[in-house]
Amino acid sequence: MASSRARPMLSERGAAGSGPAVEAPPPGAPRCSPAAAAALPPLGPPPLAVRELQVAFAGRPVLEGLTLALPAGRVSAIVGPSGAGKTTLLSCFNRLTELLPDCQVRGSVRVGEQEVLQPRCDVVALRRRVGMIFQRPNPFPFSIRKNLVLPLREHGVRGREELQARVERALRAVGLWEEVRERLEAPASTLSGGQQQRLCIARAIALEPQVLLFDEPTAALDPLAAGVIEDLIAGMRGRYTIAVVTHDLGQARRLADHLAVLWPERGIGRLVEAGPAARVFDRPRHPVAAAYLAGRRWDGGATGGG
Ligand SMILES: Nc1ncnc2c1ncn2[C@@H]1O[C@H](COP(=O)(O)OP(=O)(O)OP(=O)(O)O)[C@@H](O)[C@H]1O
Ligand SMILES: [Mg+2]
Repeated sequence: MASSRARPMLSERGAAGSGPAVEAPPPGAPRCSPAAAAALPPLGPPPLAVRELQVAFAGRPVLEGLTLALPAGRVSAIVGPSGAGKTTLLSCFNRLTELLPDCQVRGSVRVGEQEVLQPRCDVVALRRRVGMIFQRPNPFPFSIRKNLVLPLREHGVRGREELQARVERALRAVGLWEEVRERLEAPASTLSGGQQQRLCIARAIALEPQVLLFDEPTAALDPLAAGVIEDLIAGMRGRYTIAVVTHDLGQARRLADHLAVLWPERGIGRLVEAGPAARVFDRPRHPVAAAYLAGRRWDGGATGGG
């Protein structure tokens, strides 16, 4: 993985046959010389940002006026009560929202320089660049190997040796290789819940993404398996830009460099506070965030959002 960070990824060059994800310079524009290009710093993971984000289902808004930046290469935790729009927010970053019936998204959603909501955004390349891991491990109903080979093939990776190398590398990255190397052809459903979740993480990172979105990744796991996933996420810091939605405030405190607190008011989720995790946890500025992070019920009325 580490070596691949230094060269542009397929998603930045544009997936085969799907057009460039980054606009080509206009004709006549000065071109970067090879020497100047070589002097450029290696591409790191991108920051994420939304501006004035509004999401509605069948005209009913569920997120409004959301402006938030998640720093590059860091772990950001997104917390808040059920229905605050955390999953919906994550889904905007790789346009999974467009798979939901009657979902309208407005505003700006950026992954680095890429404006995700533009119609010309290459969604296949975007989803390769921005992987998502869900609360319930959702391996495909195939073998362990096929769970990794299938998406790799779909994204144009060819050749037995290359596929094998990518499978092994991804399984090693999640600490699963030694546990499954003798049974790669066994159904993924024969793995434990924690192993299945690590397989799902391997499936995402096999595509060499830059961003990983975790939606309550340990909620369905026992504390030991949850700890393994948590350590894994902590170890990914710096290589990926990571957003973790969690209801476990202890986990958010352990993992997060950056913290965002969402709050639903009359069914509409808004951001009430965001900033460096240590500051927000220890000195929250908004009373709703302060109550939520202290585990107190909020019954003080409107949040003042919007
Ligand atoms: N497919 C959908 N169709 C209609 N409404 C939806 C859909 N998905 C989510 N919503 C609504 O959007 C709002 C935000 O939901 P979301 O799942 O993003 O909340 P959440 O913060 O992730 O909650 P939880 O902590 O329970 O997972 C809720 O009011 C929910 O009912
Ligand atoms: Mg959710």
